[in-house]
Amino acid sequence: MSLPTVRVLVDAQGVAEAAADHIIEAATAAVAARGVFHLCTTGGSTPAALYRALREPSRAAQMPWAQTQIWFGDDRFVPRVDALSNVAPLDAQLLSASVDGAPSPLSPSAVHPWPTAATDAPTAVGAYLEELRSAGVPHTPTGFPIFDLLLIGIGGDGHCLSVFPGSPLALEGAQVAAGVPAPTHIEPHVPRLSFSLGVLASARAVITLAPGAGKAEALARIFNNSTAVADAPAKAALTPTATWLLDTASAAKLFA
Ligand code: 6PG
Repeated sequence: MSLPTVRVLVDAQGVAEAAADHIIEAATAAVAARGVFHLCTTGGSTPAALYRALREPSRAAQMPWAQTQIWFGDDRFVPRVDALSNVAPLDAQLLSASVDGAPSPLSPSAVHPWPTAATDAPTAVGAYLEELRSAGVPHTPTGFPIFDLLLIGIGGDGHCLSVFPGSPLALEGAQVAAGVPAPTHIEPHVPRLSFSLGVLASARAVITLAPGAGKAEALARIFNNSTAVADAPAKAALTPTATWLLDTASAAKLFA
């Protein structure tokens, strides 16, 4: 097992604020080096607190918003306005005007959702991969986009992105991205669109957001040497370029 950086914060809010600070640091470095920051964010419920932390005036003032482009590691194959969409928390927390009426610091054109209005998954995947190339996102020789920072969450089954245990997207040599049938073992039971695990290796840096007692069992499996990536795909993020942000509740079984 390669060793990532593991930080244990007091609670979920601490994880959100630490992630926001990491994003600002990565954005500043990316813009200094290449004039642009390509952030690939995650789905689920965890990022909402992170987006709120980024909106706080002291942090928002440090973010190079005009040079930031936001992508998604996966999404549910539902309309953007659907509450299940992974874009919904970002629309609500980052793109909307703030409670005191301050406009969003982010341009809507800088947010790149998966094209879930497409007729079918292969069409949506092909269009998204084309959009990444058109936007000038660098790619590896094997066709994976090189994000400056990739955020992932982990599910109770040890998945990340929409790469579930046993998924072909967890295998070496998997295609860059694909449609994923609706999972039956984990909510929500809707089809997905997702990059395969290779996107973790191609990213310049990865942050895993994993707060809360509900992640403790999955984290214990992921950090257990005997667990295979195929059985807990988030294990693929145990790399030196990754920082795992846990809290005391989710880390409880790691140091027992
Ligand atoms: C998704 C996500 C998924 C998520 C984890 C954690 O589409 O659901 O991309 O990988 O990050 O399931 O979800 P929570 O943050 O809601 O616990």
